[in-house]
Amino acid sequence: MYTQSFNVPDGGQPAPGLQPVADAALQAQFDAVVDADGKIEPRDWMPEAYRKTLVRQISQHAHSEIVGMLPEGNWISRAPSLKRKAILLAKVQDEGGHGLYLYSAAETLGTSRDQMFEALHSGKAKYSSIFNYPTLTWADVGVIGWLVDGAAIMNQIPLCRCSYGPYARAMIRVCKEESFHQRQGYEALLTMMQGTAEQKAMVQDAVNRWWWPVLAMFGPPDDNSPNSVQGMRWGIKRISNDALRQKFVDATVPQAEVLGITLPDPDLKWNEAKGGHDFGAIDWDDFWAVVNGNGPCNKERLATRVKAWDDGAWVREAALAHARKEQQRTMKEAA
Ligand code: 3HC
Repeated sequence: MYTQSFNVPDGGQPAPGLQPVADAALQAQFDAVVDADGKIEPRDWMPEAYRKTLVRQISQHAHSEIVGMLPEGNWISRAPSLKRKAILLAKVQDEGGHGLYLYSAAETLGTSRDQMFEALHSGKAKYSSIFNYPTLTWADVGVIGWLVDGAAIMNQIPLCRCSYGPYARAMIRVCKEESFHQRQGYEALLTMMQGTAEQKAMVQDAVNRWWWPVLAMFGPPDDNSPNSVQGMRWGIKRISNDALRQKFVDATVPQAEVLGITLPDPDLKWNEAKGGHDFGAIDWDDFWAVVNGNGPCNKERLATRVKAWDDGAWVREAALAHARKEQQRTMKEAA
């Protein structure tokens, strides 16, 4: 039987009595690699729970990238200039590419792309809460770049050091591109803030609507994050949800000052003793409502995604038919 690991005997079961010894040795080897900050590769032995956790996280991440194309995709035809349109087209296309690297990384763990899509389209799989909010004005596109991509980078830089090789390597390129996404958003907002009073008000309104959902995007507080302890033990997660949220707030406050907008939190203030900002309470009930499918745009996002999948069936069929023909031609020539 060929799985990710050629060490797995046929039938998946070793002779009676051998399993605990073999597993203990393999587990010790796995732990040693993780403890030494090494990389686990697809054919290496890994605990089933590690594999499951990675498939969960990487597939959720991939889904977030491709669902994340939708709120901004809505604005491609309404971008205010050719320059902005070209940038937005490139950004949305990048997000599609990120989804593809990540689906490929998850496939190396033995889960097929069809299984992952089925989970997304049937509503079983999660994707980031943040993409269930509407993009009401052009300023939302800038704010998504600045804050949403900014938060994504904060969360994803540590993933470049993830213990699973294919995920870590995919994240290096993703982070480089996300950094461009963050900058283009901030630059678009800087331009609007040099414009009319209406444009400035539009930016402030978008920041007011996105700020709290962006803070929630880092995930539940550490004491309510069931996957964190084990994820960190395995070197999948390097920095906790709360620590990343804090780093994000501290990095964003000076950027907001340069931009000339106010962050919508009366409790936001520098705390000298902790060397970071204090900030107000996040509405976790709202976060869980969105995660559980009841946010402002969950149904619309899923319906758009399913429609795109159904509408694209002929492309997949044509590509497969072409590949089959090519294969037959090659075989004929080789015969
Ligand atoms: N949206 C939806 N679900 C979320 C969430 C969010 N913002 N934050 C946490 N959750 C879910 C978790 O998936 C988990 O549910 P599950 O057990 O059913 O899978 C549950 O809430 C508890 O959370 P934990 O903190 O215990 O979960 P994790 O340890 O997995 O941490 C995470 C959550 C920080 C999101 C982590 O999975 C992670 O770092 N994932 C990779 C990065 C990622 O997926 N980012 C999404 C945004 S991508 C993006 O923004 C694209 C860009 O182009 C802008």
